[in-house]
Amino acid sequence: MSNVALEKVSRAFGEFVAVDGIDLRVAEGEFVTLLGPSGCGKTTTLRMVAGLENNTAGCISIGDEPVSDPARGVFVPPERRRLGMVFQSYAIWPHMTVFENVAYPLRVRRRPAAEIRDLVARALRLVEMEGFAERPAPALSGGQQQRVAIARALVFEPKVLLLDEPLSNLDAKLRLQMGEEFRAIQKRLGMTSLYVTHDQAEAMALSDRVVVMERGRIQQVGAPEEIYRYPANRIVAAFFGAPNLLDAEVETCAPADGSRVELQVAGRGWRGACRAARPLRTGERLVMVVRPEDARILAPGSALAADEFGWAGRIVNTIFRGAIRTIAVETEAGVLNVDAPSTAGHAVGDNVVVAAAQAAAWGVPQAAAATN
Ligand SMILES: Nc1ncnc2c1ncn2[C@@H]1O[C@H](COP(=O)(O)OP(=O)(O)O)[C@@H](O)[C@H]1O
Ligand SMILES: [Mg+2]
Repeated sequence: MSNVALEKVSRAFGEFVAVDGIDLRVAEGEFVTLLGPSGCGKTTTLRMVAGLENNTAGCISIGDEPVSDPARGVFVPPERRRLGMVFQSYAIWPHMTVFENVAYPLRVRRRPAAEIRDLVARALRLVEMEGFAERPAPALSGGQQQRVAIARALVFEPKVLLLDEPLSNLDAKLRLQMGEEFRAIQKRLGMTSLYVTHDQAEAMALSDRVVVMERGRIQQVGAPEEIYRYPANRIVAAFFGAPNLLDAEVETCAPADGSRVELQVAGRGWRGACRAARPLRTGERLVMVVRPEDARILAPGSALAADEFGWAGRIVNTIFRGAIRTIAVETEAGVLNVDAPSTAGHAVGDNVVVAAAQAAAWGVPQAAAATN
């Protein structure tokens, strides 16, 4: 297995820049996911690593060896990059057995029969499908077909596995199960994996690190929990769930843990403390992120803890979601959403207080995205 490095990698289609100066390192054995809305450049990035698409600028390296660097005239063709690929449509051929499906890439390259037998058997063993070699492909479940697709990607002993929305054709339950299964195989084999999805839940559940992309640019890179709790900007915050975004102004700023800061902030009819990634000046505007699951509903006049925010208001909407009920409360600071236990009897028209621990509040710059 190898690492993968992208340095200032761009791809322009005429005037349109689909991928715009991406810097990213995937360590050996690491599972990194490109996450972002449709059209943000995920597939183009993956295809450039594969060599199926040329980058128009920057350098791509696999195992510390440059494979594409247009400025220096370097381009290693896809078949010499030793990459395994799994795509959305698994492209399992229905007229072939499992064995023949996995053997296909080796047959095309005219490998000797004995070698093909060994390599296919080993790839099927890795995905625990060795008992299915002679099955016709259509006699497999969606999940089993997916495993065959992975075996076929592994049959070459690739240095890196590239996966483009490999689960998006499956129904929700199977998607979850296959995701976990794939993650287990990936960990067991220590496969360096670059994975693409637009599904934030999938990205968080599977990845060592997540790369949030938007309009061809990286917005943030980090462990799933870090990105969820400490988004770099509004785009990243809003991409995970539906957080409350409150406009506020900085009153004071002091150092907190690590490089973070603790801010005293004030908004319309409220003030309190939140944390942020970097220092802000007194008077600067910011957006304070409060997740619905970090807020709760109290009766009017309830005592608040010293380290809690409280916004008085009136319930304007409720949405039943099973375990939780999302309660929308109109306050002076805007409409705030709270995820409450669905068994609690909140009703439209009730006067309530929305409370949230200041420790769970996170400040991000008011500009939509970090300018870098
Ligand atoms: N061959 C192409 N020619 C012109 N535009 C393209 C081409 N391939 C992709 N694009 C554009 O680049 C952007 C990124 O596409 P893509 O990487 O497929 O996004 P994602 O996989 O994140 O949905 C899109 O706006 C898409 O229309
Ligand atoms: Mg895509």
